[in-house]
Amino acid sequence: MTASRIVSLGHYQPPKVLTNDDLAKLVDTDDEWIRSRVGIRTRHIAVEETLVDLATEAAQKALANGGRSADGIDLVVVATCTAVERSPFTAASVAARLGVPGPAAYDINTVCSGFSYALATADHAIRAGAATRALVIGAERMSDTIDWTDRSTCVIFGDGAGAAVLEAVPDEQAGIGPVVWGTEPEKTDAVVITGWDPTISQQGQAVFRWATTKIAPLARETCLKAGLDPSELKGFVAHQANLRIIDAIAKKLGAPDAVVARDVVDSGNTSAASIPLALSKLVERGELRSGDPVLLFGFGGGLAYAGQVVRCP
Ligand code: UT7
Repeated sequence: MTASRIVSLGHYQPPKVLTNDDLAKLVDTDDEWIRSRVGIRTRHIAVEETLVDLATEAAQKALANGGRSADGIDLVVVATCTAVERSPFTAASVAARLGVPGPAAYDINTVCSGFSYALATADHAIRAGAATRALVIGAERMSDTIDWTDRSTCVIFGDGAGAAVLEAVPDEQAGIGPVVWGTEPEKTDAVVITGWDPTISQQGQAVFRWATTKIAPLARETCLKAGLDPSELKGFVAHQANLRIIDAIAKKLGAPDAVVARDVVDSGNTSAASIPLALSKLVERGELRSGDPVLLFGFGGGLAYAGQVVRCP
């Protein structure tokens, strides 16, 4: 039996940083409101960089960190909700830019849960024998969807990308646990990004209530499906939507030894990029070590959610 594991990670954020004070010059807001309600101090905003640039940079770093070359990749999956082009789709453009020779490639859009969905489908493809080495990327230019006169959204989102290289391994070395995924059909309009020049809007309080009540039991279920009690986790990387949401879920999860990713403070909400970005930084800083079990859990627009326990590269 074949399974998969993450062999390396990488991330990229555009250099331009917007502080809360910068935003207070554009809209009626202030540093105190943003920090206390969402926990964000800064976010990175793409200027020249396209979505494909962000995704390619993160993927190149993941390949370099794992000592792997592009020509060994046979599957490229990009999770994003901010692709401007319908064709060519992002994964095809990234594969071409990286020089991956003729891989299977596709995009996934389940908004903020996209990376966990993408990771699950790549793991399933490897388990099915349809791929042997995959690049899984979460990339977003959320700034393309922002109305810079709307204080309820412009302070929240940021741009960036994170990537993972997956490889086939024997089942007993599996590094990606079973996925728990689903949608909330009554709340399809709680996060909306629509139109040819799309603007994001959300029912913030409804999403907040859903995330802080429904996600923790699903996160616990994800651990149990992986054969692990949450108390055994060494890390917890939730979608970086809001520091209050992350801390509320972490408290209910019951994982006292887990490092909790709080990258939202520096990066804002980068939708499908937020989980691989935060995970890659924790590994790069040595806060998580090789083999550590880490719970990833994405949730947001759709409303949709997905999560799995992974072993750190
Ligand atoms: O990643 C996609 C999934 N999305 C989420 O997970 C989002 C979940 N929701 C949230 O994180 C929070 O609901 C928000 C951060 C979006 C908003 O925080 P909140 O504590 O729920 O604020 P609110 O929307 O209830 O607004 C409270 C007040 C309002 O003023 P009034 O009506 O009470 O006078 C807003 O107009 O805060 C006002 N407000 C602001 N004030 C200063 C809204 N945005 C701002 C702002 N600065 N940037």
